[in-house]
Amino acid sequence: MRRAITKQKLLEHLDQDLGRELQAILLYLWMRSIAFGIRGHELREILEPEIHAEIKHVEFLADKIIALGGVPSFNVPAWKRPTKLREMLEYALQIERDAVNAYTERVDEASELGETALQVKLEELITDETEHLELLQRLVKGVTPDM
Ligand SMILES: [Fe+2]
Ligand SMILES: [Fe+2]
Repeated sequence: MRRAITKQKLLEHLDQDLGRELQAILLYLWMRSIAFGIRGHELREILEPEIHAEIKHVEFLADKIIALGGVPSFNVPAWKRPTKLREMLEYALQIERDAVNAYTERVDEASELGETALQVKLEELITDETEHLELLQRLVKGVTPDM
């Protein structure tokens, strides 16, 4: 049987989620900085709205942590700096997939604690991250491992 979630645990998990969002932002900024050529130009345009979406997620999570009585740490987990386009996209895919999985767990935790508004908002985050995931899946299809 699964252990009951506590508000403290939820706060810790939301803080980890926030760290993952910061990681995604840094990775996207990294990608946009070192993407060159025609493809690089396209990538910069594609990443622009993604970066803004992730910033909104950070703002939401930070405000929610405060509202629940916590303090966001703004700790960022270590992240890789891939230089090949294919590696960048696959790494970004992994981070988005992790985000979808994490928010799916978080929905259950919020529901268990009766945090209905948080639950609904987390469902929106799942929608956003799934869109990012699907966009990256489309991009990665056209890129060979040596690119
Ligand atoms: Fe996000
Ligand atoms: Fe995302």
